[in-house]
Amino acid sequence: MNGSAGRDPASTLPEPAALAELARSVAAEAAGLLMTRHGTPRVVQTKSSPTDVVTEMDRAAEELIRRQILAARPGDAILGEEGGQTGSGAVRWIVDPLDGTVNYLYGLPDWSVSIAAEAAGTVVAGVVCAPLRRATYTATLGGGAWLESGWLAAPQRLTCNAGVPLQEALVATGFGYQASQRAAQGAVAGALLPRVRDIRRNGSAALDLCSLAGGLVDAYYEQGVHAWDIAAGGLIAREAGAMVAGFRGNEAAAEMTIAASPRLFAELHDMLAALISSVPRGR
Ligand code: IPD
Repeated sequence: MNGSAGRDPASTLPEPAALAELARSVAAEAAGLLMTRHGTPRVVQTKSSPTDVVTEMDRAAEELIRRQILAARPGDAILGEEGGQTGSGAVRWIVDPLDGTVNYLYGLPDWSVSIAAEAAGTVVAGVVCAPLRRATYTATLGGGAWLESGWLAAPQRLTCNAGVPLQEALVATGFGYQASQRAAQGAVAGALLPRVRDIRRNGSAALDLCSLAGGLVDAYYEQGVHAWDIAAGGLIAREAGAMVAGFRGNEAAAEMTIAASPRLFAELHDMLAALISSVPRGR
């Protein structure tokens, strides 16, 4: 998207900074709502397995986000984890109202509100708000990735770690909710473990990508993620210098999402491809 978008009569696409600003204020409001029931939400549904829960607060946060986005931009489309796809505007918002639902349920701190704006099929703005980290991560396409934090006097530009060889890399990953998927993912993680510094499983894919952007881990990979888990965090990681993609040049998606600085990305990509083809599949 170029700088003249929004002024060209042929295009009604707004500036990424304006979309990021809207995402930031809506995410902060949703985070405030979520804070009122942190550790004490009511489970109202299960999805792919009995441990894949939806709480009343996932729903309430998504309703708030949808209401506020559409109040500001009535024609836009929204893809949300709980409500699916609605609308068909040129701007599509990709929303995980509560990424890290299990952490939230147990009162653990690493959960976030993740909101991305996609224009003409490209994510151009992304915000991940993690109130218990006192952190809001923001990126716009070409505008860098930034951390605003209650611990910092001013916003800090994020740069992912570079020059880390695979055997010294701290690698974040995640696991799906279905037993067979977890068995396969665990086998790959077990085979990777002796080949890297260590593995972290923090429970929010969006925050894993932000941690990568800020140098808190060196790499992230996961199979089975959804667009709402990685849309905002993926842009934040890219704008911090990471490569974010799937296997063999495919886009980051459920088949595989890998994120790391380019050289480490290549090493991890090849290692994961080899491990996935060699470890026994889960039952
Ligand atoms: C989950 C988290 C988790 C990841 C799972 C996601 P949810 O999202 O991001 O870290 O490993 O793949 O489904 O269910 O908390 O919104």
